[in-house]
Amino acid sequence: MDLISLIKARRSVRLYSEEPIKDEELEILLEAARWAPTGANLQPWHFIVVRDENTRKEISKYAKFFFFKSSHVGNAPCIIVLCYEKEKSRFGIYDVTLAGGNILLAAESIGLGTCWIGAFDEKKIKELLQIPENVSVVALITVGRPKEKPTAPPRIELEKIVHYETWSNVKRKSFSDNFLKSGPLSIFRKLIKYVSI
Ligand SMILES: Cc1cc2nc3c(=O)[nH]c(=O)nc-3n(C[C@H](O)[C@H](O)[C@H](O)COP(=O)(O)O)c2cc1C
Repeated sequence: MDLISLIKARRSVRLYSEEPIKDEELEILLEAARWAPTGANLQPWHFIVVRDENTRKEISKYAKFFFFKSSHVGNAPCIIVLCYEKEKSRFGIYDVTLAGGNILLAAESIGLGTCWIGAFDEKKIKELLQIPENVSVVALITVGRPKEKPTAPPRIELEKIVHYETWSNVKRKSFSDNFLKSGPLSIFRKLIKYVSI
């Protein structure tokens, strides 16, 4: 699969089979993480791989934000906890997030499902995993073999979020583009809209 198709095919998976993640698979994910860019190449990151069932269940207790609980966390056969050393870089959060993005895509490329978990009690997770004071936990990533094929949640159209050169310049397709690619009814609607701008 080419990269763009892979990016589009990746979904947050929240239902996994119990089959464990193999060391070779984990290595692919962690290698992908390690090759992400970091500010000044400082690489302040650490990745904690949790496969022990009891620890995973404990983690799942703290994977919540007010009433929003990610109950799937305890059912994933593997959780990767993304951390960085705070004093090593002031860009640690971005570095780790880029590494995490690589993990999601690398997992997709080998048929594994993942979900980024941002809602968790950092203090409790740090206590549980004996993470030192100077280390910050950015996210948890659940990893497993998908037992569901989620449909893609919608994305906002590029026209609404992309600006060219300055904020006020949003891209508008040229009238001829619209005219050629649309059916008669929408052509009429667009004609009215175009004329009224
Ligand atoms: C910063 C961030 C935090 C997220 N936190 C959670 C979370 O706590 N629990 C969860 O189930 N999904 C979480 N997600 C997954 C999103 O819900 C998901 O990416 C989004 O709905 C788009 O779906 P997709 O990943 O299938 O494209 C998070 C994603 C991001 C990027």
